[in-house]
Amino acid sequence: MKLSVIGAGYVGLTTAACLAQIGHDVFCSESDLEKLAKLQNGEMPIFEPYLELVIKLTQRANRLRFGSTEDAIAWGEALFICVGTPPLPNGDADLSAIEGVARAIAKRASGYRLVIEKSTVPVQTGAQLRRHLSVHRANGLKYDVASNPEFLREGTSVEDFLHPDRVVIGVDSPRAAEILRGIYAPIIQQQFTCPLHSQCPKHKSPLFLVTDTNSAELIKHASNSFLAMKISFINMVANLCEAVGADVNKVAQGMGMDPRIGSAFLNPGIGFGGFCFPKDVQAFIRIAEKSGCDFTLLKEVERINQHRVEHFVEKLRKELWILRGKRIGVWGLAFKPDTDDIRFAPALAIIRQLLSEGANIQAYDPQAMDKCRSELPEITYCSDLYRAAEGAEAILLLTEWSEFLTADWGRLSTLVERPVVLDGRNALRREEVIANGFQYLGIGGVSEGTLSASSMVEV
Ligand code: UDX
Repeated sequence: MKLSVIGAGYVGLTTAACLAQIGHDVFCSESDLEKLAKLQNGEMPIFEPYLELVIKLTQRANRLRFGSTEDAIAWGEALFICVGTPPLPNGDADLSAIEGVARAIAKRASGYRLVIEKSTVPVQTGAQLRRHLSVHRANGLKYDVASNPEFLREGTSVEDFLHPDRVVIGVDSPRAAEILRGIYAPIIQQQFTCPLHSQCPKHKSPLFLVTDTNSAELIKHASNSFLAMKISFINMVANLCEAVGADVNKVAQGMGMDPRIGSAFLNPGIGFGGFCFPKDVQAFIRIAEKSGCDFTLLKEVERINQHRVEHFVEKLRKELWILRGKRIGVWGLAFKPDTDDIRFAPALAIIRQLLSEGANIQAYDPQAMDKCRSELPEITYCSDLYRAAEGAEAILLLTEWSEFLTADWGRLSTLVERPVVLDGRNALRREEVIANGFQYLGIGGVSEGTLSASSMVEV
């Protein structure tokens, strides 16, 4: 089927490439001309594992092309809107990019189009889109509007798109449902050439849920807010563990054994970041406020998360006393591993706080340093994790990239000024760190330098 994807961010680019991979003829547009030129020249504007490969494969097969929004509107029978919905100062999602695309579709498209919102939007955006298309349409445009929330995670977006747990569509006409079912058929049946695995393991068919548009829009916000709530919950418990001398890793492990709870998203740390959770929780709170519903629960989720930065910096202050003039080695800048995305990254908030207290920061991240340089020009960017540790009075692990987890602690012990490690993700091999003479400080009561009895109990 001829499909268009409007907006080439993390979601749009992955959607376009993967829809082409499963056999569709895709046109992807981008309004940022610099980014568009990169894509047209075969360069990647973002780091995302496997995405470059899928783009190359599908371009070679002549199933993926990049160009202007106007050309994208003319191309596709179905148009996926994947433009940004950043937060406004009051927490509302800024829908002006979506409105702009809707207006362009109304003005330029003719015949029938299925307009699909894939960007995360507040509930009732589909209804607004319908109204907007009806008011501004020219050329006898006929249309349906559908919601198709995207649940992919950065860092694993290609895998998540091609092998999802669920595909949700929100439609208000049988025709829209039929088209979307056709688009996703190869994914529902798990029948396509998989670019990720040479021998693709047998994947379960994803669940396919058809709802009305409003419900589909809510599913996305509710899912992200629920996951954010799990993270804040375990971070809240981590504070109690620190106060009473328990080990939050063990608590999370024990909780996660209950299938009703599940172990995912119970990793304590410096808090959630990225371009989804913080803004989606905020937007969900605003939607509830406007609808007269009490979402105090989510305000607490936000508050707990915001406090993680200060809580972590306080741990460092307790250890080093005065931060002014101290050299601190920072490992990780991205909001999570396997991405170069630094939007709302807790690492950056921590660094800003340390800088304001006069610390000297030397940082290393495998992918995010280029994006960080303009945001934080005052820190030293290092070529590897060992350079970042040289002469440091403490090493802070802020993003759990796999290369940090396999660091040579013997070598590190010869490089640092003082052997102190603050593990902001409880991700390092604590025993190994301690065995090499380091003092290890984790999150949630996880060891002050010796192995606690609880950590040695095998479950
Ligand atoms: C999230 C959702 O998972 C995805 O379904 C949606 O489409 C977009 O938003 P993403 O933002 O890419 O995806 O990353 P995710 O892996 O969910 O992590 C979000 C943040 O939570 C990161 O900062 C991560 O470090 C943090 N996190 C995650 C924790 O602190 N603890 C956890 O247990 C899990």
